[in-house]
Amino acid sequence: MDGTIRLADYTPYPFTLERVTLRVRLAPRATRVSARLELAPQVDGAALVLDGEMLHLISVAIDGAPLGPNDYRVTPTGLTIHPAALPEGPFSLETDVEIAPEANTALEGLYMSNGMYCTQCEAEGFRKITYYPDRPDVMAPFRVRIEGDLPVLLSNGNPVASGPGWAEWDDPWPKPAYLFALVAGDLVAHSDSFTTQSGREVALNIYVRPGDEDRCAFAMEALKRSMRWDETEYGREYDLDLFNIVAVDDFNMGAMENKGLNIFNSKWVLASPETATDKDYERIEAIIAHEYFHNWTGNRITCRDWFQLCLKEGLTVFRDQCFTADLRLGPVKRIEDVMTLRARQFREDQGPLAHPPRPDHYKEINNFYTATVYEKGAELVGMLKRLVGDEGYRKALDLYFARHDGQACTIEDWLAVFEEATGRDLAQFKHWYTDAGTPRVTVSEDWADGRYTLTFEQSTPPTPGQPKKPPRHIPITVGLLSPNGEEIVSSTVLELTKTRESFTFEGLGAKPVASILRDFSAPVVLDRKVSTTERAFLLTHDTDPFNRWEAGRMLARECLMARATAGTAEPGYLEALGPVLADDDADPAFRALCLSLPGEDEIAQALFDAGQTPDPDAIHEARETLAKDLARAHEDRLAALYDAMAVPGPYQPDAGPAGQRSLRLAALGLLSRLDGGARAEALFASAHNMTESLGALSSLIAQGRAEAALATFRARWQGDRLVMDKWFMTQLALCPPETAPDLARKLADDPLFDWKNPNRFRALMGGLAANHAGFHRRDGAGYRFYADWLIRLDPVNPQTAARLSTAFETWRRLDPARQALARAALERILGQEGLSRDLAEMTGRLLG
Ligand code: ARG
Ligand code: ZN
Repeated sequence: MDGTIRLADYTPYPFTLERVTLRVRLAPRATRVSARLELAPQVDGAALVLDGEMLHLISVAIDGAPLGPNDYRVTPTGLTIHPAALPEGPFSLETDVEIAPEANTALEGLYMSNGMYCTQCEAEGFRKITYYPDRPDVMAPFRVRIEGDLPVLLSNGNPVASGPGWAEWDDPWPKPAYLFALVAGDLVAHSDSFTTQSGREVALNIYVRPGDEDRCAFAMEALKRSMRWDETEYGREYDLDLFNIVAVDDFNMGAMENKGLNIFNSKWVLASPETATDKDYERIEAIIAHEYFHNWTGNRITCRDWFQLCLKEGLTVFRDQCFTADLRLGPVKRIEDVMTLRARQFREDQGPLAHPPRPDHYKEINNFYTATVYEKGAELVGMLKRLVGDEGYRKALDLYFARHDGQACTIEDWLAVFEEATGRDLAQFKHWYTDAGTPRVTVSEDWADGRYTLTFEQSTPPTPGQPKKPPRHIPITVGLLSPNGEEIVSSTVLELTKTRESFTFEGLGAKPVASILRDFSAPVVLDRKVSTTERAFLLTHDTDPFNRWEAGRMLARECLMARATAGTAEPGYLEALGPVLADDDADPAFRALCLSLPGEDEIAQALFDAGQTPDPDAIHEARETLAKDLARAHEDRLAALYDAMAVPGPYQPDAGPAGQRSLRLAALGLLSRLDGGARAEALFASAHNMTESLGALSSLIAQGRAEAALATFRARWQGDRLVMDKWFMTQLALCPPETAPDLARKLADDPLFDWKNPNRFRALMGGLAANHAGFHRRDGAGYRFYADWLIRLDPVNPQTAARLSTAFETWRRLDPARQALARAALERILGQEGLSRDLAEMTGRLLG
């Protein structure tokens, strides 16, 4: 009994819940929650066990009769009613509790942010609002009455009645408690409407604090695009008369898909050209879509238990990725998604926090909202789609919605609809869900008598608790190019199922050049010796945009790895980029990606994979010098691109102009290494949008010439929380590494460092952690600073503290001296008295 929850221990709840009625009387220090649960026993003689934390119980009654002190037991985690006190048939339970939203700094349950009340219940926050079977497989319709002296009072579903100081809401769709939401405050709405494909009129509102209403238009358009896309691509229509979104300044995560009342971190709603970057716009559109898509994949069909989290998150991320790919530039989006996957999920898989997309045990479920569950979960859906084809995928999804609407499901249910709809056997594929670790695939080639053979071998390194892994079912998309660059075999999916397996292409006139793992068809590390000439060839000729980019990426990576280890750098990378830079037919956004060098963490990851101990200082140095060499080698072309990519006219956040700006800023970043920041200073002074302003500022920071610009920026934006987050984050992430820990200390003393606000805290800590060589500074100052702040935040907001502890997940790949310093920091955290379950589990796993 060390508090571990296990998948194997799942048992259904012994009662069904037919209906929930809540009355919430709001007050900052003493909110009264009266709950009526209509329950029906399913198992004879079962006790009624309800979850509840931080609740002050005032009364409890069954069928209107108050219970005596011997009928129930209250513990710090719940309320148990003895079987003897329960009727045999259906009954109602009424409880009254008092809670203190103002004292709730953990931002889970009902809390206050700038005078407004709001909730966050996923995963287990509802138990901080009332006594309840707080598990996703208990679903019920809700009726909610809110009383409070505030102009806007919102909950899930449709409004039924309201008057001064009260409002009543009814949500007819049975839902688990994690989808409950309540918002009350002095808010203003940006409103619109949407007509669904069958003609239902849906009122749409985005609620924000007064003053922010002119920053909602983009999010509203994104919402309408999402609603239309889910109809055309998945046949999914919205199912209430109303869809509300609320923006909140204090929020632990990005956003939350509560039924009919999505709550968002204001960072992912509010946008204006002056304050949001192109990346912000793209992300807002994706998150609005993500939360909206959850209405079907998450809400109508939910998870049986939290082990199944990737059932809703993997699928919904996959859906939002496809949405963005359809609306913007598909291949560019794919490359960006793979970059994120490698930076976050491959990194997670490589260290002590590795876990399967469907874990089988946890202590604190909030610690499993990870890149593995989300981003790798999405890759698994993408692989399934590749394996069964577009039509098979659509059939499987139609069956999923038809069969499981209104249910709480498992990964087994999910795989079964694919098997039944397409006739495929997915038993081996299931290992992707249950096994952790990134498979390595090595490839060798054979050429004789017009026969070209590719031989693949796969293995997956051990991960915590999983020393040995069976081979996976891996879709590998391959195309073959002729030596003069024509495609002779177009993209074909090879299905690797054995440890070692060969595939032969017959009847070829000349030895082809293989393009393997096109579109990144599986989340694996492809280990293949490829000559610089062949990579340069693919970078110029591959018809698959992902592999075209990948060829350049691998050249850059190899070059950086060699430079960072005093090996001999492959020549040819700088030259190979020439044709792409000159290729004016290629999309600017694509060319910008080709120009961006792998990050320092990616290089460290690759070195560690190759059996070496990465040195953060050497990696930083290698990347800096390569960037400078790259700038020198292509100075004229870069300068021409910088001028040519200027976008005239008023700012538009669309993919076209955004791509031009990204290429222009990529060129600027390189040119600044030669012109001493002259162009960046000019751009900073003239920029009218945040993309260029922050781009220019970033270049100046990296050159150590940003003092004046940072002061100007601060003076202009000090009243704007979201913009000031960028100010904190960017200067730390990009400053010279040896100065980073000291700068972090200085910024933590800034009066604008409001550390209880999660966005601000993340901006500072995330900025430091993003400065690879700075965080890992040889003397351990980065670790100490970071640990100090995690220790300070933990009692206030354990969830955010635990999440940020992942900065330490790479500590074991470092040299012994750094390891000792990182270990000391982690042990100091673990040694804190009263450490939260969240941070205790994380540090325990990190120390392994
Ligand atoms: N379901 C939300 C989303 O993916 C995230 C909620 C995260 N909550 C948490 N406690 N970690 O959109
Ligand atoms: Zn989600």
